[in-house]
Amino acid sequence: MTMIEERHPLAPAADNPLSIGACRSITVTSVSEVGWWDTPRMLDEMKVGGGPAACQWGIRFDPDNAAGSCTLIEVEGLDGGARRILLDAGWNPEYMAERFRATGVDRLLQDGEIDFLFLSHEHLDHLWGIEAVLRLAPEIPILVPGTLREEGIAWLRGGAFPAAGIANPVPHRGPIVRMLPGGVHKLMDGVASVTFDLPILLDIRGEQSIYANVAEKGLVCITGCCHQGVLNLVDFATNHLEAGGQIFGLYGGLHIAPFGTMTEEQADTVRALGRYGFRKIAANHCTGNEAVALMHTLGYPVVGGSGSAGSTGNTHLGNGDTVRF
Ligand SMILES: [Fe+2]
Ligand SMILES: [Fe+2]
Repeated sequence: MTMIEERHPLAPAADNPLSIGACRSITVTSVSEVGWWDTPRMLDEMKVGGGPAACQWGIRFDPDNAAGSCTLIEVEGLDGGARRILLDAGWNPEYMAERFRATGVDRLLQDGEIDFLFLSHEHLDHLWGIEAVLRLAPEIPILVPGTLREEGIAWLRGGAFPAAGIANPVPHRGPIVRMLPGGVHKLMDGVASVTFDLPILLDIRGEQSIYANVAEKGLVCITGCCHQGVLNLVDFATNHLEAGGQIFGLYGGLHIAPFGTMTEEQADTVRALGRYGFRKIAANHCTGNEAVALMHTLGYPVVGGSGSAGSTGNTHLGNGDTVRF
């Protein structure tokens, strides 16, 4: 049986922003940003399973349509040392194993060179691929949002969910840390996380995101899906973190127009992002192609990609692409 620890955050005081220290650089590689291949098919299966409010652990999705979201974060410390975080585990285990091979993450996991797996949230496209991680590193510490359902813990421990047609054949044997909401968790020098507590699609709760303070550059926000809203993500930093005084970079799924056509309200969110003065934006996964296109139109410093290894188009940072902050 794995150990479960609950970690309480530091609660920032109203007019005393928290210092999280600093690092020298952050290098982010999109191991895979493609959640699934065919959106209408995925939405159809969701509908058949009871709609967006039904619990994901009881819905049957076609595994052939599954890909997954997973990101490697490499932190260079002020002392030159390197530490690594794997953000999320993707969805389809065979596909994820292939992506791990293609990006060298397989070797890093096997050699114990990744400090921990940081699970942004419980959604299937970030968690159901866990088998691929555990085959290579069964004892890796896993930091989960404190809001995770019991099904999520059971899944990590080798659970099976017949109604969803899934099973995890490789039980996790390392520590699990529940990162409680309500403040800031310092993960390492210059890197912190915050667990946002909110109800999300498919009857799950909460998402945790990462903030890094890069010396002489500023704050970098790193997200899985950003269900809390990208403006809330950045506002938290400006209001509660000392490093939030100088905003620099943004990476990840920004959940602006994830399922296709962008609404006017979603376009407003893209426009509102302009007020922070980001110097580098690498938006992928559930951001939505139309939202990324509008960022380009507005002249935001958007980092493109190779448009290869399953990612569509070179306007965003895709599978196998790397950005350095
Ligand atoms: Fe996602
Ligand atoms: Fe999600």
